[in-house]
Formats: sequence, C-alpha cells, structure tokens
Amino acid sequence: MPRFAYVNGRYIDHRRASVHVEDRGYQFADGVYEVIHLFRGRLVDEGPHLDRLERSLAELRISLPLSRAALSLAMRELIRRNRYSTGLVYIQVTRGVAPRDHKFPADPHSSLVMTVRPISEFPSEILENGVRVVTVDDLRWARCDIKTVALLPNVLGKQAAVESGAYEAWMCDGDGFITEGTSSNAWIVTAEGVLVTRPAGIDILRGITRQAILEHADEIGIPFEERKFSREEACAACEVFLSNSSHFVTPVTNIDGVVVGNGRPGSLSTALHNRYLAFMCASPRALS
Ligand SMILES: Cc1ncc(COP(=O)(O)O)c(C=O)c1O
Repeated sequence: MPRFAYVNGRYIDHRRASVHVEDRGYQFADGVYEVIHLFRGRLVDEGPHLDRLERSLAELRISLPLSRAALSLAMRELIRRNRYSTGLVYIQVTRGVAPRDHKFPADPHSSLVMTVRPISEFPSEILENGVRVVTVDDLRWARCDIKTVALLPNVLGKQAAVESGAYEAWMCDGDGFITEGTSSNAWIVTAEGVLVTRPAGIDILRGITRQAILEHADEIGIPFEERKFSREEACAACEVFLSNSSHFVTPVTNIDGVVVGNGRPGSLSTALHNRYLAFMCASPRALS
C-alpha cells in the first residue's frame, strides 16, 4: 500500500487523503493526468510526460497550481517518503473545487494530487507467451489527444477485455481501423518487416512510450509507417504489440481469438522490448 499521497501541497497518509466532494474532477471529469514509470529508482521520460501534462492543461485552459520545477520537486519528495523503487507515479490536475455549475468558475484554483504505487517488474511469462486482446467499438469523444480523467469508455473496454479473459481491449473506429488500446497504443509489424502505428492525431493519445519506440526504431534502422491499420490487417500481421508507460512493449499473440503469426512474441517486438528496458535502466535517478 502507498504510504503517502500529495494533495495540494501536503503529504498525507494515503488512507486519509481526499479532495472535496465538489472538486470538478469528481463532478465533471474536468481534469487531466499523467502516469510516469519509476523504474529501479529512475524516472522514465519525466520531461516528455510533464510536457504532455502541460499541453493537456493548456488545451483545457486549466493552470498548473505550481511551477513545473516545484511539481518535479514535490514528486521527488513523494517518492522519497514512499520509499518505493519501482512503481507508478500518478499526477492529476483538475479545475478545482467550486459550486457545481458547468461553466468555468470565475476564480478557479486548480487541484493537484499525486500518488505513487508499487508495481512488479515486467512478468517474464508475458514476454514468453504474449497477451490476448479483444476489439471493441471506440466510444470516446473527439479529443483523445488530451489525457483527461474522463475514461469511462476506456473503463468499459478494459472490463470487456477482462470478462473475455484478455489483457487489453483495442478500440475500433467506425471504419474498422484500430485507434488504440484502452490504456495503450497499438502496433503491428508487416510481412515486409515494417513497423506500423496509427498517426498521432486527435483520435489517439500521443503515447510517450510510442514516441520513444519510434525513435528507437529510427536509431536501429527499422522502417516504420504512421498510418491506420484495420482489425483484419492486425490479425494477419507478422507481429503485434502494444505500448504504454507501465508495460512498455507488450507482445500480443491473439486478437479476438485469432492467433497472430506463429502464436509466439515476434523477434522485433522482443528486440524493442529489450531496447526499451535498457533505455529505462539508463534513465536519470529520481533521488540523488
Ligand atoms: C488511451 C491511451 N493510449 C495510449 C497510452 C500510452 O501512453 P504512454 O505511453 O504515454 O503511457 C495510454 C496510457 O495510459 C492510454 O491511456
């Protein structure tokens, strides 16, 4: 169990940490969040995550209640107090507390909450066997590039996955193209060895891991295309994987009951997984 949470400037026993019932995050999902991997005491891609947090906030005209430098320091203090070396740092900023009314409050005071929770390292079983995904309709709004706390379609999708024994649900747009997972970006490798992922428009989240993978692919000379791919193309692909900050590169070996490739994680997925692991190991230490 996490020991401390950060709530608007205070480090509070996690069991007692709370926000007001009229916080707009609670009533309107009027807020954004980030998740940063703390890996063996190192913060992975902190800069890009905080850049995306600032972008999400700017898109919704919510202000960060403290400077970015102060946020970084508070996050480190929270990590220090929790004494976890591997976990997920969760940062949430909402438009704050105000009497319930849809329009922005006249004098908003945004709320900042942070938690750290421990996680296990990547299960070797997944790297050996891969995971199953199921496809569901993408029921989300038109600005999926903003990392808002409005995650109900993602919640329903993930629950559908769990109920059918899968690890993740991939969402499909109205034309049968995969947008992304409920908490991950989606990738395939074609018969020609080309890495494919959907372009980062407003219909998906521009994953920080996604961006790092594209850079790694570029560095090691793997050809890639940012284009849409359908559920059928994914089922027929040589390799399939998903990416996110919690589980970086996760091989997918089954989509809607259809076995992908030879049913084993592909060599490119495994190579990208291992390269990303090395990148995490080389990330800056959170605490000096
Ligand atoms: C909908 C969605 N897409 C993609 C991702 C992957 O983003 P990142 O690599 O920044 O964790 C996430 C992460 O939670 C997500 O929720």
